Amino acid sequence: MKARVDAIIQRDQAEYLNKLTTQNYPLLAEMEAYASEHRVPIADREVALFLEITARAIAAKKVLEIGMAIGYSVICLARGMGQGGTVVTIEPSDEMIDAATKFLKRANLSENVQIQRGKALDVMPHLTDTFDLLYIDAVKEEYAQYLDRGLPLLRSGGVVIVDNLLWGGRVAQAATANDETSTRALRDFNRYFMNHPQLRAEILSVGDGLGYAVKTA
Ligand SMILES: C[S@@+](CC[C@H](N)C(=O)[O-])C[C@H]1O[C@@H](n2cnc3c(N)ncnc32)[C@H](O)[C@@H]1O
Repeated sequence: MKARVDAIIQRDQAEYLNKLTTQNYPLLAEMEAYASEHRVPIADREVALFLEITARAIAAKKVLEIGMAIGYSVICLARGMGQGGTVVTIEPSDEMIDAATKFLKRANLSENVQIQRGKALDVMPHLTDTFDLLYIDAVKEEYAQYLDRGLPLLRSGGVVIVDNLLWGGRVAQAATANDETSTRALRDFNRYFMNHPQLRAEILSVGDGLGYAVKTA
């Protein structure tokens, strides 16, 4: 769930849209409950749906995710890609990997997902595949480096999606000396992302602020 449902759009609109976005896959509903109970940050349901729709729309065959947690967004991406798709996802936490491995097995998606255990900045230099979609959702202070390392691995015309770019509304507020490093990093990242010479980018008021871009060069 969003930290504040009225951080981006008005509460009545957010509540209306929430009601329309029902969860009809029981395993994903169970994962949402698990994440809430164990305080694991997973994508908002509307972000998860956006990922699934985008993967399907661009007929993605290979997706790179930075930050897997329990595999909630991985399952949504893999469902959008259908048979023959592969998600490569990077995650350093053994606890998260154990939970995700069990959920992926129950979703019959173990064959479609390659989990890379480790920190993204250590793992990414060793990746050699070409990807159709890059989804960034890990350490906010490292977003620009994930983009720098991920773009050479993305095909021309490939899509970049980045979560939490409005960060509960904090990024849009006037800067103060007390701002968290994550808030400052995201302000810098948003400028970098929106003006990147290899991207046509925008930030959507979906979830907690969703970066959406196509690689143009
Ligand atoms: C917001 S959660 C990911 C949620 C997931 N994408 C989803 O929507 O279901 C962020 C994850 O990034 C992981 N993480 C932390 N540091 C990381 C790093 N350096 N590289 C990759 N992942 C990292 C955390 O362990 C956590 O599971």
